[in-house]
Amino acid sequence: MSEYNIAIAGATGAVGQEMLSLLHERNFPIKNLRLLASKRSVGKTFTFQGKSIAVEELTTKSFKGIDIALFSAGADRSKKFAPAAVKARTVVVDNSSAFRMDPAVPLVVPEINHQDISDHKGIIANPNCTTIISLMGLYPLAAYGLRRLIISSYQAVSGAGAWGLEELRRQTIEWALQEVENTMLNKNEKVLLRPEKFQHPIAFNIIPHIDNVLENGYTKEEMKCSLESQKIMHDQNLQVSATTVRVPVFRSHSVSVHLETAKPLSVAKARSLIKKAKGVRLYDEPKKNKYPMPILVTGKDDCLVGRIRKDETTENGLCLWIAGDQLRKGAALNAIQIAENLIGITKGKKS
Ligand code: A2P
Repeated sequence: MSEYNIAIAGATGAVGQEMLSLLHERNFPIKNLRLLASKRSVGKTFTFQGKSIAVEELTTKSFKGIDIALFSAGADRSKKFAPAAVKARTVVVDNSSAFRMDPAVPLVVPEINHQDISDHKGIIANPNCTTIISLMGLYPLAAYGLRRLIISSYQAVSGAGAWGLEELRRQTIEWALQEVENTMLNKNEKVLLRPEKFQHPIAFNIIPHIDNVLENGYTKEEMKCSLESQKIMHDQNLQVSATTVRVPVFRSHSVSVHLETAKPLSVAKARSLIKKAKGVRLYDEPKKNKYPMPILVTGKDDCLVGRIRKDETTENGLCLWIAGDQLRKGAALNAIQIAENLIGITKGKKS
């Protein structure tokens, strides 16, 4: 099999690190791997397949000889450096929002629209994590005509970046230390949880605000769910109304979806369609306490779907609950699956 020169732009970040382990885990055919990040990270090294690789600074000259670059260093860096990569004949798989809605750039979840990859002109965009996880639970039902989706997300702090993990960890430790002191010294002091990058304390709280608030009252994250879903599903009439919420979970997102279909769809049929679909597993025995949860999907490739029930308030309506690891299927895994498709490998067949 041919081997490829691969670069990860944003290699030190939460998604970049996940990309590194997935390239190893999935035995991606690599000749040379280049790890790129900011100047601050030059001097750091990571071990890949027994070899130590030094982090280099991401510049416009980083892409000579690189076949595929996996970008996850934020939209500004993608806008600045992806064109230089394309000029160097590198195919960019971009995890940021920089090019997702560009009509010339395919936006791909391989299980749903891998055929769009072949239209690329140098850049292929990886969708927003909540969009991917929601659609993974919904695409098996598409033959029944998805008409309207009401999505509420429960998004882990690591979705914000490595700093999100640190902020939740720090606030939790500060709270726990105060609790210990209160117990030992019989005190009743309240700890002030200091937000740094999140808008409010995230420990023991939930924040219904991810990304900027727009003129229409939705946040940018919510509009990503809506517009990106239409583009991936090739359906401009698909109505999506999302509320995206940050919760104090370290890793893996969950979503509640109320959906309406054009044709009647029974719960039993929905279950059997999800059972047969790739990249998603039915986990739906609520009476036995079995339903998708972040702790069940963390570190796993497949998204889980459960709590499937008829929406009793509308015709042709179903409610369901989906959970997926947003660093994996919501980001790094999806990007690497796109790269695998590019070089003609398809993995993850339903057994
Ligand atoms: P660095 O660690 O050197 O700052 P996360 O989203 O998890 O915070 O990760 C962001 C990634 O993007 C990191 O790898 C980070 O590298 C990288 N990055 C941030 N700013 C720049 C920049 N100006 N140039 C190159 N890489 C950057």
